[in-house]
Amino acid sequence: EELDRVKTAFMRKVAHELRAPIAAIQSFLVSILAGYGSPQVQREMQERAVLRAGELLDLVNDLLNLSRLKDAKMEPKVQEVSLKKVLDEVLSLHGPDAQQKRIVLDVTCEECPPILADPGHIKQLWTNLISNAIKYTPEGGRVRVRLRAQDGSVVGEVEDTGIGIGPEDLPRLFEEFFRTEKAKAFAQYGTGLGLSIVRQIVTECGGEIGVESEVAKGTRFTFRLPAAPAPAS
Ligand SMILES: Nc1ncnc2c1ncn2[C@@H]1O[C@H](COP(=O)(O)OP(=O)(O)OP(=O)(O)O)[C@@H](O)[C@H]1O
Ligand SMILES: [Mg+2]
Repeated sequence: EELDRVKTAFMRKVAHELRAPIAAIQSFLVSILAGYGSPQVQREMQERAVLRAGELLDLVNDLLNLSRLKDAKMEPKVQEVSLKKVLDEVLSLHGPDAQQKRIVLDVTCEECPPILADPGHIKQLWTNLISNAIKYTPEGGRVRVRLRAQDGSVVGEVEDTGIGIGPEDLPRLFEEFFRTEKAKAFAQYGTGLGLSIVRQIVTECGGEIGVESEVAKGTRFTFRLPAAPAPAS
């Protein structure tokens, strides 16, 4: 019964999240078909419909990722992974987003042992933390990424000079669909699934993650993942 209640609440949230972009796309299409407005207005409505469709696709992809992560039957493809190598790949993808906002990306990597994980999951981990840092930092800010080895673990940090998170919101941060009011006002689109995906991945790897933040100053996420056992020599 408890499971039923949780499932129903989850479905309600999903339906709610899907409804907004679908309703927007439908109303744009109706106006476009009716020939409403000048050619310029028509063009703007087309562009906004495309944006909302992109948002819908992101949401569905996040939901698929989360359900795969939670499915006990879907074994992660665990192998030795270099956090640094995956980080470089993710940085090359998100560098342009940072540049566009004139955000300085400051990266410090120590030599670290590999970890045992599914490489695709590690890519999602870095992607979510780094894209959040860029998304929630105003123009001209700084995002600092650090990686170091510590007592048989690898520790990663993503720190920004962004909008921050109030102490009242911190306990709910990793919940599915949770977004702070500040975040909604600052960056309109987002589903609030990114950090729940991050938490799922860190747990799967036997690690832990924490966050410190100060409103209007910035935020720092720190995660620790156990290093792969050294090969017997
Ligand atoms: N670096 C950050 N600075 C400030 N707030 C953040 C930061 N990272 C996450 N948050 C807060 O945590 C919430 C949840 O983050 P999460 O990544 O799960 O969702 P999202 O970015 O809103 O949407 P998406 O699912 O598209 O990633 C955000 O909405 C925001 O309120
Ligand atoms: Mg996010």
